[in-house]
Amino acid sequence: MSSFKQSDKIKKLESNKKRTHSSRQWLLRQLNDPFVAKAKKEGYRSRAAFKFIEINEKYKLIKNGSRVLDLGAAPGGWCQVSKTIVGDKGFVVGVDLLEIEPITGVEFLQGNFHDDAMHAQILAMFQGQKADAILSDMAASSCGMSDVDHIRLIALLEAVFEFSFDLLRPGGSFVAKVLRGGTEHNLLSQLKQSFVKVSHFKPKSSRQESSELYVVAQGFRPKKTQLKADLPNSLNFNNTEIDQNNGTE
Ligand SMILES: C[S@@+](CC[C@H](N)C(=O)[O-])C[C@H]1O[C@@H](n2cnc3c(N)ncnc32)[C@H](O)[C@@H]1O
Repeated sequence: MSSFKQSDKIKKLESNKKRTHSSRQWLLRQLNDPFVAKAKKEGYRSRAAFKFIEINEKYKLIKNGSRVLDLGAAPGGWCQVSKTIVGDKGFVVGVDLLEIEPITGVEFLQGNFHDDAMHAQILAMFQGQKADAILSDMAASSCGMSDVDHIRLIALLEAVFEFSFDLLRPGGSFVAKVLRGGTEHNLLSQLKQSFVKVSHFKPKSSRQESSELYVVAQGFRPKKTQLKADLPNSLNFNNTEIDQNNGTE
């Protein structure tokens, strides 16, 4: 897109009074975002693709031949990146509430990860084989109350962590989006018991103003421990440093 067309689009958008202020702000941010332009240029379906590229470059979680479960996969950026890395010998399954346009060589399941039926479908798809990595970029849509958003995301993460015991191979990896100060205290301690190394990482392609970051857990050592069910405790953040480049909990 030429810079002339780009500035025309921005002017038009700024003067469009039919849109709400927040919708105008979102579109302006998209138009000015270099990762949106880069994703378009490189054929990725989302700017999110670059987050997983950065995560995998740093932590080397998946490689040629890996089996990958990608939760919250729509529109498919992480699946595209994963498929390119794992190649024809590997296996990628994407899951989302939303429909996803097919990607050659990637299997998709549409539905809610919270449903037991979905867990059964995923296990059936892996045909008794274990996954090398479980990735979750899932984010429940925001209700505008940050504590409620946080609790919802923690509930999703706890479900993904529990599911690791059914699907992840010993030595495998787990990546999940978290918010604000990092992984919630109870979950973080469970992850530390079940993985050799647990890190927090903020990719450069994740917007600086966004409170998202990723928990990266490597070296799964399955030993079933019970997560505490009392959600109010989930509000107690572990006040750990957020690592932009290099952090390990
Ligand atoms: C940020 S987007 C993921 C972007 C994706 N990683 C990519 O690269 O294109 C988050 C996705 O999580 C999905 N999601 C949220 N809650 C879910 C749930 N309970 N089950 C399945 N998908 C869920 C949403 O529908 C949304 O598409």
